[in-house]
Parts: sequence; structure tokens; C-alpha cells
Amino acid sequence: MNRRFEPSGPLRGSVTPPADKSISHRAALFGAMTDEPVTIRNYLFAEDTLSTLTALRVLGAGVDMREDELVLRGVGLRGALEATGGTLDVGNSGTLLRLLPGWLAGHAGGVWTLDGDESIRRRPVDRIVEPLALMGAAVEAREGRLPPLKIGGGRLTGIEYELPVASAQVKSCVLIAGLLAEGETCVREPQPSRDHTERMLLGAQARFAHRDDGFVCISHLDELELGEVTVPGDPSSAAFWVAAATLIPDSRIVVDSVGLNWTRAGFFRIAERMGAVIVGDLEEPGTFVAEEPVGELDVASAPLEGTEVTAAEIPIAIDEIPLVALLGAFAEGETVVRGADELRVKESDRISGVVEGLGGLGADIEATGDGFVVRGTDGLRGGTIDSRGDHRLAMLGAVAGLASEEGVEVVGMEAVAISYPGFERDLERLLAE
Ligand code: S3P
Repeated sequence: MNRRFEPSGPLRGSVTPPADKSISHRAALFGAMTDEPVTIRNYLFAEDTLSTLTALRVLGAGVDMREDELVLRGVGLRGALEATGGTLDVGNSGTLLRLLPGWLAGHAGGVWTLDGDESIRRRPVDRIVEPLALMGAAVEAREGRLPPLKIGGGRLTGIEYELPVASAQVKSCVLIAGLLAEGETCVREPQPSRDHTERMLLGAQARFAHRDDGFVCISHLDELELGEVTVPGDPSSAAFWVAAATLIPDSRIVVDSVGLNWTRAGFFRIAERMGAVIVGDLEEPGTFVAEEPVGELDVASAPLEGTEVTAAEIPIAIDEIPLVALLGAFAEGETVVRGADELRVKESDRISGVVEGLGGLGADIEATGDGFVVRGTDGLRGGTIDSRGDHRLAMLGAVAGLASEEGVEVVGMEAVAISYPGFERDLERLLAE
């Protein structure tokens, strides 16, 4: 499906972003691991998070969708799971692909295969094969590193595992397996990544220890006690409106009910450094609590200047880095992004998608070994951009179109359904005010 986004007037009014995709996945997964029913408010009903519900149903969890809430009737942390010997379809979801195996791995005697769409088949899984095998699961991947991924459950033992790259998905997989393992399971990342797993588990009575050497340890747990979860708005979806309001002159918007967890706020801080006017109570870096902070962001258009984004900032801005490129195209001077190799293994290769995509619209941008450099000009001419089936590139193209001189045609706009099915409806509202 192609969609054209014409140069637009200012964005005005308020918008509530869709529910957080990462937190929704976790709420459903942990709900399935809980003995008592778990009520989830504001669950994200989008393709990725529906894949999670489908997989959990196949495994034997009850999933009741009600008008304004979702109720998960779990099987318990160690409860018997169904569909052993079968294949679970993760669709396009890298999070489901990496988190669910942590739970399956602790079910001795069970065997499941995880597979998904064409893009999922290019997502590396060796990053979870290694720790899960060390813990005692029998895990096999195609060519040792790609899906389909076969997980044979085992009796797990805790490990001390140093992640080669910062990844919330890998960290979560190991911590979940740690709940079912004998002893303590400890992980350390080169830089902090989103901590929704730790927060939700902390609220569900899991025991964490933060060691002085940077390892986070979780202990074997008998039971999760989750109660209720209310999912905040997704800062990664909100980021598209923050970028649009920043770039389009005279815009002034309020993004409400958005998650302000510091491990997701990297983009907002980078944008502020570039000159964006974003008023809101972003959480203080380093906070570790069970709650997910929620609030509003008040955004007004502003002139931008280039910046340097370093490797340390990448994990907490990972899904918004394409938007840094877009801001960079409108900024005075050069914007340099380093240490972002992980972008090559997302839903698409986001370095080439962004560089070729924005380059095709008139941006002066080039790829480097581990990122890109964009030299700001007076803006973007416009043209056509291919989403490559990647939801975030589709929305990038849409915002680029609004801020461009001649408009942008996005090829493959249907990809937004992965995380933000109401994207175009929200855009219409922001333009109508
Ligand atoms: C996610 C973590 C990130 C992110 C992805 C969602 C999660 O991936 O890019 O969209 O929910 O944990 P990595 O942890 O692999 O960087």
C-alpha cells in the first residue's frame, strides 16, 4: 500500500500515543507465567503484540480480550505448556522471538520451534542460543544463528553472562530463564538498555541484586505475582510526533500518557541537545523502580543544530535513531551517529534504509561503518521512500513528507500496523486542530 504525505501546516493539539509495544509484550508473557489471572489495561492491539497473544494461546494460556482490558489466565511459571513438538509463529516480532525462549528453555521435556516472517528469518538468534545453552537448554538455530529456532527445555542452572552488545531482548531472555534456573543468574551489558523486564518482575516479587561490578542478578522464583498492569503510551511511537512538531514551523503539540522511563528517553534528550523544545518530566537516569513513569510532553517547533550521538546513547534511543537522521537533515551543521551497528539487524537494515531512503528524498547523508553522517541543508526536497516492510521506516517517510518541500510517497505504508495501527488517524487529528 502506497501513501502520499504532502507538505503540511503546523501540528496542533494533543495526541495519545498507542500503548507501549515492549511493555505490552512483557505484560502478556508474564501474565501467562502467573497462576492468578492478570488484568492488563491499555494493551497494544497491533500486529506484533497480537502475535504474542496468539503464541501464548497456543501454549495453553487463556487470553480474554474485553472492551477496555485484556485478561491473561496464566499457566504458572513452571506450569505445563502445550504444543510441544510444534511451531510457534512470532510473525514480525523480534521481542517475542528473543523473550519467549527464556521461558520455554526452563520446561524440561518440551520442544518448540519459533519461526516468523521473511524479516524475522534474518534476525540473529545466536545471541540467545549461547546463554540458554550455557544454562542447560538444547537450542538449535539455522546455520547456528538464524530462525527457525528450536528450543528443547532442560533443567537450567544460573550463569554469569556478559552480553557482547547491549540488548534488552537478550538481557530479558536470560533473566526470564533465570527465574526457572537453579541458583542465581547474573547479566551485565556494555551500556544500559530498556529495563521494562526488570521493573515488571520487580513488581511481581522477583528478587534482584545489583552488584558493584555492574552485574544484575535474579534468583530462582517459585511464583510470579503480577496483579494488574497498565501499559503507558509508547515513547517510540510518540517520537514521530515529537520530530514532526519540532520540524514543522509553528507547531505546538502535547503528547499525553507517554512512558517517560529514562531507559527509553534517549531520543528526547538527543533532540533537546539539537535545540528541540520538549517540556516534560523525563525520569532521572539511573532510576530503578518497579513503576513505569508516565506523563506528558509539550513540544514546540524550533531550529536545530547538528550533534554527535555516541555508542553509549544508542541502546536507550535505539528505535528512534532513524528520526535523529531526519532531524539532522534539517539541522545546521553535521549530525554524526556512531556505534549503531545494531541498527543493521532490526526489522530491516535501518542504516541502509535510512541512508538510501532519506538520501533519495534529497538529504546529504552517508553511511559509515557503524552509523551515518548527515549534513543539514535547508530541508528535504521529497520523493519516494520504501518502508522495506519496516514500520519505523514507514512512519519516518510519513514525517519526512510532512516536513518536505514536495511531499513523500511511502511505499509499503501497511507496515505501520506492526506498532501503530492508528498512525494516519492521529496525524489527521493533529493537522485538523
Ligand atoms: C526491544 C528491545 C530493542 C528494540 C526493540 C524492542 C524490547 O531491541 O530495538 O524494538 O522490547 O526489548 P534490542 O534489545 O535487541 O536492542
